[in-house]
Amino acid sequence: MQSVNAHGLHSPFMYNLATQCFYDKTNYPEYKLLKKYYKQLAHDQRIIKVKDLGAGSKKLASENRKVSDISKISGSSYKEMKFLFRLSRYFQPKSVLELGTSLGKSAFSLALGNPNASIITVEGSKSVFDITKEYFEKNHIKNIELINADFDDFINGLTSLKFDFIYLDGNHRFKPTLNYFEKLLPFIHNDTIVLLDDIYWSNEMKTAWIQLKKHPQVRQSIDTFHYGFLFFRKEQFSQHFYIRL
Ligand SMILES: C[S@@+](CC[C@H](N)C(=O)[O-])C[C@H]1O[C@@H](n2cnc3c(N)ncnc32)[C@H](O)[C@@H]1O
Repeated sequence: MQSVNAHGLHSPFMYNLATQCFYDKTNYPEYKLLKKYYKQLAHDQRIIKVKDLGAGSKKLASENRKVSDISKISGSSYKEMKFLFRLSRYFQPKSVLELGTSLGKSAFSLALGNPNASIITVEGSKSVFDITKEYFEKNHIKNIELINADFDDFINGLTSLKFDFIYLDGNHRFKPTLNYFEKLLPFIHNDTIVLLDDIYWSNEMKTAWIQLKKHPQVRQSIDTFHYGFLFFRKEQFSQHFYIRL
């Protein structure tokens, strides 16, 4: 284990990321918009029929789900939204891919963090996609392309794009996670960041994370005990960090 707080981080890249982004306490004006989006969803009492294409939810067993429950249980918390906003603000990725939109809380946060980014986000459930589309329109967000597709179908259709930032937040199972990663490798570059959510959600995810860290193309990783970051920067030693958020 390399470190659990910023002081022990000897890599300037990691130190700056921890101090200027992870632990940045600035109260950004955009946080108000994140809160508004979060609250709109928390008050949405509509019930929709959800077909889950992924590992499913541990807490939402029925197909008929309240929007507010989906938001609370499968979506980012307000704290996580702020974190994703700061990541996007710090790295300023121009092209972003998210697998797993749900109700758009993470995509919205990444979009606000860098209004110049082009964000593609993919959601397989049509009913969830329809609601999210409505929320993106209502909140006047212009830099997100929302796609209704199965992750595999979407990735199979990719051609020449390169992504600066990829967020994997859906279908939290061992094999699909490794497959998405492998299939996305042609679409990354030296400075791409791959972020995984819920790396401790299940034994399958824990094993997937351990395996991904060992992948020959991965040079550095950060384990936040919730999110996992993978970096490919060839100019750096291979190093694996633990940073508590
Ligand atoms: C954990 S939620 C995403 C939460 C969202 N990123 C956020 O932070 O608010 C995962 C989403 O991925 C979708 N999903 C799971 N497996 C999928 C697949 N194979 N293809 C397309 N969508 C999938 C689910 O329908 C679900 O809405």
